Amino acid sequence: MSRATRHSASRKGRRPAWHLVAAVVIAAGVRVMAAEPDDLPAPVFREGFSYKGAELCVRCHRSEQSAWCDTATSTAWRHDAHSRSHLALLSTNPRTRSMEEALGIKAAETTSCKACHTHPDAEPGPEEEIPEAENRFFHTGISCETCHGAGSSYLEPHLHTSWRFLSSAEKASHGMVDLRNPALKAENCLACHMGDAGTGRVVPHAAYAAGHPPLGAFEMEAASAALGPHWKRVWEKSDRIQELAADKGYQVEAASTAHRSLIGALVALRESALLVQKAAGPATARETLPSWPELSLYDCQACHHDLVLPSRRQQAGYGGLVPGRPGLVRWPRRLAEVAFSTAEMPTAADDILSPWVTSLNARPFGHRDDLRAPPGAGNALARVDAAIAALATVRRDASLPERQRQIAETLAAAGPRSGDLDSARPVAWVLAEVIQTAPGWTATDRAAVRARLETALDLRMPRPAEATAAAIPFWRTSLDAAAAYDPALAAEAFRLPPPQTPAPLPPR
Ligand code: HEC
Ligand code: HEC
Ligand code: HEC
Ligand code: HEC
Ligand code: HEC
Repeated sequence: MSRATRHSASRKGRRPAWHLVAAVVIAAGVRVMAAEPDDLPAPVFREGFSYKGAELCVRCHRSEQSAWCDTATSTAWRHDAHSRSHLALLSTNPRTRSMEEALGIKAAETTSCKACHTHPDAEPGPEEEIPEAENRFFHTGISCETCHGAGSSYLEPHLHTSWRFLSSAEKASHGMVDLRNPALKAENCLACHMGDAGTGRVVPHAAYAAGHPPLGAFEMEAASAALGPHWKRVWEKSDRIQELAADKGYQVEAASTAHRSLIGALVALRESALLVQKAAGPATARETLPSWPELSLYDCQACHHDLVLPSRRQQAGYGGLVPGRPGLVRWPRRLAEVAFSTAEMPTAADDILSPWVTSLNARPFGHRDDLRAPPGAGNALARVDAAIAALATVRRDASLPERQRQIAETLAAAGPRSGDLDSARPVAWVLAEVIQTAPGWTATDRAAVRARLETALDLRMPRPAEATAAAIPFWRTSLDAAAAYDPALAAEAFRLPPPQTPAPLPPR
């Protein structure tokens, strides 16, 4: 019997029973379920620029923009999950209705729901007549400007070819978020897909308890592919454009999709710590969060896990955290380590997180004052930035195939050590992508690796649970998936076949 089969056979015998380990919370005297609607966070959007409205953007961005921009911009957006994300706030959605009943809120009027599910209130609606059931606010969901930034100051200058090659900082000075820059793109996606206490984008624990689907691991390039991208990479654009970009020394795109993913992973590691730090922080966050501590900022499975022995959580270790204490969100760590070693700065993710973990060790949830500026945090964040900078300056040159092969091998070695499903999936998403182009494996090998990863780690994007399944508690969905994670099967899935042809030597 293979290791994999033996493992799953033994697991069948002990169907895990989920328990809520509430002792920590009770000891800390926390109001777990408190949710007065007025207490819910208010979003803070970029100031100083005003919104033009998606209708204006769409007027031009429905046809080709000078061979620089993808023609499909607004059609792609119309069909992606974001243009419709505001519909999740309608009471006609059974999940939303049951959340509204449990929380005593009206989702469409609740600032914290709107912060992630639609565009800013200040954005003008379309001029056309709006059906009665909808109001102006409800028309576009997450709009162009929600992601790209308010258009008042960049609208005119961005029409010129010269705009393309401005630095991210120059674009930002006109209010445009340079989303071609992988670090800024990751920040943008994660602000809603992981949360950002600084802008009031947090799903409060009470909202999870009331039925909000848990926000799981997120990898921006895999998620972009699933979304249906409305852009092209510079290396996918016409030869003329590519030459022009090379001529201008245009670097913002990073060398490959895999390099972009790794930059995103470092941003995710940073944001997992800043999530708690910003919530503890001064000014905005303090006013915008319903309570301190806010349980949903921590690793859900620190408190929600099965009480069994032996336990995979114990085997995977606690990353320096005192067992029993709620820790930081765990899933960014493993892929971030691959990023550090690809940047030739091998670093344990736990070393980076230790300034925050030290505070969380002092007492459950940490001391709020310490968490606002944990000693050593500046240094840790500088190490993350240095690795991002190293990855961002890798050139798209003849050495790329060999670099991709190395990334594939580093991912394959890291995957089996992930410890849990949510940490393993981002590694698998990137491996499934890079293996398609990395040299050294035959088409059959590539397909086999991808198929094994699909089976062991379910590479589909998390789907919001069926609306009709609103009453199913979350351990019957996401925690059950975590429990079903089979490390032996995963280890087998990550194993790469030996390269068919000797890999070319890296250029000197
Ligand atoms: C009058 C037509 C027009 C309108 C209105 C317009 N755009 Fe554009 N946009 C363009 C053109 C043309 C380009 C390509 C410029 C070039 O060739 O570099 C472009 C480029 C872009 C780019 C790529 C910029 C880059 O740095 O590569 C983004 C992002 C963008 N537009 C977003 C928006 C958003 C958001 C709005 C609404 C606030 C909007 N646009 C409104 C014509 C328009
Ligand atoms: C969920 C966030 C989001 C929304 C909503 C969104 N965009 Fe984008 N857009 C992005 C990201 C991210 C990129 C760059 C991705 C990359 O380079 O990997 C991008 C790229 C672009 C580009 C560059 C296209 C190219 O081929 O290089 C244009 C133009 C653009 N967006 C316009 C729009 C317009 C117009 C809308 C509204 C109809 C819109 N976007 C809505 C996130 C968004
Ligand atoms: C931090 C950002 C964030 C906040 C705040 C937030 N959501 Fe969500 N919500 C999401 C994301 C991301 C998804 C998609 C999750 C997935 O696909 O796994 C989602 C999914 C949902 C869904 C299921 C999707 C569907 O179409 O049925 C509903 C319903 C929902 N949210 C309602 C709410 C309500 C009500 C609130 C306010 C109490 C709220 N959300 C606050 C980010 C957020
Ligand atoms: C610090 C410990 C802690 C953390 C971290 C935590 N929870 Fe909880 N959670 C609890 C406790 C305790 C309860 C039971 C509260 C009660 O019944 O009053 C609970 C209740 C729930 C419930 C309701 C269960 C039910 O049906 O009664 C859900 C759903 C839930 N949590 C989801 C989450 C999610 C998702 C996360 C991570 C984003 C999370 N929790 C993080 C301690 C925690
Ligand atoms: C303003 C908040 C926000 C931002 C920014 C954002 N998202 Fe989303 N995203 C959402 C919400 C909310 C949903 C759920 C919509 C629904 O199901 O009703 C969602 C859904 C998705 C889905 C579909 C998931 C599913 O379950 O079907 C994908 C994929 C996705 N987002 C990718 C991205 C990527 C990639 C980026 C960055 C370029 C991004 N998102 C930026 C809020 C956001």
